[in-house]
Amino acid sequence: MKHTKIKDLLNSTKPIDDVIVKGWVRTFRNNQFLAINDGSVIHNIQAVIDFENTSADTLKRLTTSAAVLVKGNLTESQGAGQKHEIQVKHLEILGDSDAEKYPIQLKNKPSLEFLRENAHLRVRTNAFGAIMRVRSVLSFAIHQYFQEKGFVYVNTPIITGSDAEGAGEMFHVTSLPINDAPKNEEGAVDYKQDFFGKETNLTVSGQLEAETYAMALGQVYTFGPTFRAENSNTSRHLAEFWMVEPEVAFNDLDANMDLAEDFIQYVIKYALERCEDDLKFLDQRLTDEEKTKPMAERSEMSLLAKLNFVLENNFKRVSYTEAIEILKNSKPNKNKKFNYIIEEWGADLQSEHERFLVEKHFKCPVILFDYPAKIKAFYMRLNDDAPQDRQTVRAMDILFPGIGEIVGGSQREERLEVLQQKIADLGIDEKELWWYLDTRRFGTAVHSGFGLGFERLVLFVTGMGNIRDVIPFPRTPQNAEF
Ligand code: 4AD
Ligand code: MG
Repeated sequence: MKHTKIKDLLNSTKPIDDVIVKGWVRTFRNNQFLAINDGSVIHNIQAVIDFENTSADTLKRLTTSAAVLVKGNLTESQGAGQKHEIQVKHLEILGDSDAEKYPIQLKNKPSLEFLRENAHLRVRTNAFGAIMRVRSVLSFAIHQYFQEKGFVYVNTPIITGSDAEGAGEMFHVTSLPINDAPKNEEGAVDYKQDFFGKETNLTVSGQLEAETYAMALGQVYTFGPTFRAENSNTSRHLAEFWMVEPEVAFNDLDANMDLAEDFIQYVIKYALERCEDDLKFLDQRLTDEEKTKPMAERSEMSLLAKLNFVLENNFKRVSYTEAIEILKNSKPNKNKKFNYIIEEWGADLQSEHERFLVEKHFKCPVILFDYPAKIKAFYMRLNDDAPQDRQTVRAMDILFPGIGEIVGGSQREERLEVLQQKIADLGIDEKELWWYLDTRRFGTAVHSGFGLGFERLVLFVTGMGNIRDVIPFPRTPQNAEF
């Protein structure tokens, strides 16, 4: 007989005879009450064991995380705390779990750090179960949004010969044996003798390839893993993260901002509607965590209030130049609360500045646009009307409370000569980008796109504090055990 998901049983409005549940033991109380979870929903189902007719040995084996099958009648529960329970008629232990050795002892609330070291088991806790279900729903929402709008999903390459961001933070891909790789005359590894006959790396962004597709299919998006070999040990950076990158022909920067805002609001709304139980749990988790902080540091809003706030309020659109003025004139700056004080127009914003703008000044999501050309990537559309000493590009970053940058995007430079000049100025070999420049040679047009860091979105929606806790197996420096 087939087993039923706990989620379906908990939604049942009437008793059902002879249901079968398969799952894992969460707790076992008073030799009678067995809480089983099967991952379909955050709640456990209570199975009431007929202990008088169950062997002592079997009862002893009902330890946390043991895999079990129960068969019995689903009835209304007499006890407080749950509506349903199963009166067990038949119990099988499918897989034992040695209570002495099982690493996650729920009684002494394991820390997030400890759980990170046990990434293969942490998903068995309520919090990680909830996070990973929310992550899955958000993933689906992303596809749903773009598919409804007629975007074409494009799979851009993972192994690539281009450096899309020009930031040089790439993982090298090689099939050459580490010790006896062929060397060139200078003694360096000769990648020409490698698999691809040239240097290749793991992609940092699918944008450039997506652009070529947008110039034929109109509206496209990528959603896949991207890699950055940046050695930043922060709670917002991963070496392997997932990025969503829409690219749209004929969209200018304003249309790009409209798309990004609408998209983010859609997926958050989707999660709020589909993940009610999980988000309620995560909301409570965050509330409990906030209580352990000093009053002044506590968040004014609950998780659910924050999510609803984003849906109900427009993102504030502010130019880089305006933002610099705000930062220069802001009190925290004068009091030297910023470690890094912005003196000059042209400086890159540090995360403390971004947080100040979003959390203290505007108190809502902010879209910063028209950044200095010098601090942004080569492909961004130059603002022709900007003064020579303050050259700006049509870039946009979306900053979120508690997160910082969640989206980076731009209108792209569509003019061949301007782009060629930019490439030359940066010392990039034009030949490397011949295929990219073809989009400007043959039927070029205004177009725009952006990249949303998926894990940063999941961070925001789940209210977690560290990006390592919203991806199943985080890749950070010194961390690739699994
Ligand atoms: O701002 P970034 O570097 O932009 C691009 O890669 C563009 N090519 C995107 C485009 O226009 N199609 O990265 C985009 C977003 C960031 O805003 C951030 O949310 C996320 O990707 N991101 C990271 N997330 C986790 N760990 C990292 N190391 C990240 N680096 C960027
Ligand atoms: Mg960026």
